[in-house]
Amino acid sequence: MGWGKTHYWDKPDGAAPVGHYLGGIVIRPELRRRGLATALTQTRLDWIWARAGEAFYVVNASNLSSIELHRQWGFAEAARAPRCHTTGFTGGVGLLMRAVRPAPADLR
Ligand SMILES: CC(C)(COP(=O)(O)OP(=O)(O)OC[C@H]1O[C@@H](n2cnc3c(N)ncnc32)[C@H](O)[C@@H]1OP(=O)(O)O)[C@@H](O)C(=O)NCCC(=O)NCCS
Repeated sequence: MGWGKTHYWDKPDGAAPVGHYLGGIVIRPELRRRGLATALTQTRLDWIWARAGEAFYVVNASNLSSIELHRQWGFAEAARAPRCHTTGFTGGVGLLMRAVRPAPADLR
């Protein structure tokens, strides 16, 4: 149906810091808008929140579906760059997005 991963970068790269990054989420086109990416992302963030107080992902500035998806966890733009670690961006503009771990009472 789809997949997603987390990746720990142990070296900074420009504006992209050391830390836990969400990556690679893709849902089969015919199965989108059913909450699958939300479920995969909640599971990955639960894993990260058990280990760190902040999480990152990088996204093409034109990828509004991904930006909207991640808004529910409070991801906000932290930097813009033509590359982040090993990721380049078609069109040349990528966003580094950052969210912080919710307070214990607000964890889902
Ligand atoms: C982005 C992607 C992973 C979303 O997967 P999904 O399973 O459809 O997402 P969900 O059903 O969990 O959507 C949750 C919310 O995200 C937002 N969202 C998802 N797709 C959207 C779209 N095409 N346009 C606008 N908002 C969108 C909506 O707020 C949605 O809630 P709603 O359906 O109640 O309106 C999917 O479109 C995809 O695989 N895209 C191609 C790969 C990609 O761009 N990955 C991200 C790389 S950073």
